[in-house]
Amino acid sequence: NKVVLAYSGGLDTSAIIPWLKENYDCEVVAFAADVGQGDEELEGLEQKALRTGASECHIMDLKEDFVSDYIYPTVMTGAVYEGQYLLGTSMARPIIAKAQVEVARKVGADALCHGCTGKGNDQVRFEGAFAALAPDLKVIAPWREWDMHSREDLLDYLAKRKIETSASATKIYSRDANAWHISHEGGELEDPWCEPSKQVWTLTVDPEDAPERADRVQLSFDQGRLVAVNGDRLSPYQALVELNKLAAAHGVGRLDIVENRLVGMKSRGCYETPGGTVLMAAFKALEHLVLDKTSLKFREQLGLEFSHLVYDGRWFTPLRESILAGAEAFARQITGDVVVKLYKGQATVVQRRSPNSLYSEDFATFGADDVYDQSHAEGFIRLYSLSSRIKALKEKGNN
Ligand code: ARG
Ligand code: SIN
Repeated sequence: NKVVLAYSGGLDTSAIIPWLKENYDCEVVAFAADVGQGDEELEGLEQKALRTGASECHIMDLKEDFVSDYIYPTVMTGAVYEGQYLLGTSMARPIIAKAQVEVARKVGADALCHGCTGKGNDQVRFEGAFAALAPDLKVIAPWREWDMHSREDLLDYLAKRKIETSASATKIYSRDANAWHISHEGGELEDPWCEPSKQVWTLTVDPEDAPERADRVQLSFDQGRLVAVNGDRLSPYQALVELNKLAAAHGVGRLDIVENRLVGMKSRGCYETPGGTVLMAAFKALEHLVLDKTSLKFREQLGLEFSHLVYDGRWFTPLRESILAGAEAFARQITGDVVVKLYKGQATVVQRRSPNSLYSEDFATFGADDVYDQSHAEGFIRLYSLSSRIKALKEKGNN
């Protein structure tokens, strides 16, 4: 028996290794994905997994794939969950689960395991991907099975087995980081009336302490994809890293929200998505320059649908392919440059241009013009409001 575990090196997945071996009489293969969470989390991970009892540890670098195949497509749909959340954790789960399945095939495993709790979204995202990609593999979710409930329980469990851990009994927040964002939940945040303390935030400068001088950053897009920052052509991942650095220094991208989880309860979370906030604002500014009214309205509907699809763990479905095909048709027009001003937590679009721009100063001007005959508007409005006129006349006649 062989199980591939989505392993982070944290306390939960560390306890899972011996627990699996004892309860499923199996070999445990640890798997970790590098999705840009930072070197601190990945350093020494293999040795740690082996010391904890894993037979092998596989670490896969998915940074570029994550940005080009999951993040940029999601940006192209304009997806923002419940009008606020930029889906950082939600987008990462399918790519991690997919790579985990690949490792399972390679090592000939018969089961997959994750460390998500039974109360959250992530379990649904992992297992939704497993169902679509490896319906034959068994899924083990220890948090739904074992009777441990606290960090103390997990530490006791490891201590009894003489397994070393650097984890402490008090860890205030549950965090999840990748190239796009970091999320913070738990601790005082569980009270939505409690303002997040300074120690919640880890990526961005407090807007109150941000520089008094604004910075401007130019983003260049080619067919919906970010290809250059301030004129430097960068890979998708490197471009995002650069945006993160610039935006974080100005405290851009902080979010403090209450959201609806898929499993029914509301939860309060704080998020930092510095580069993503700038990227999203710039992309949308170009859309507004390029897409006509009905196209833009339809793209907004695609974004709304896509935000729920991603949040709800339905990445590996025909619906995702369908929405993305639609969004990409619009995105092919999204080529051009946008300048965003970064200042005290705000990202404000101040310049935009595109070879596909439909904006015409000749038509829009309030000055004298010779391309638009204002008398044409009269007939248009007359027919456009005809049904209202008929209804009003009828009501008058009935009185
Ligand atoms: N609430 C966010 C989401 O559902 C963040 C979840 C964070 N996950 C975690 N394992 N800490 O996407
Ligand atoms: C978890 O419960 O494992 C993390 C939070 C979530 O999935 O929503």
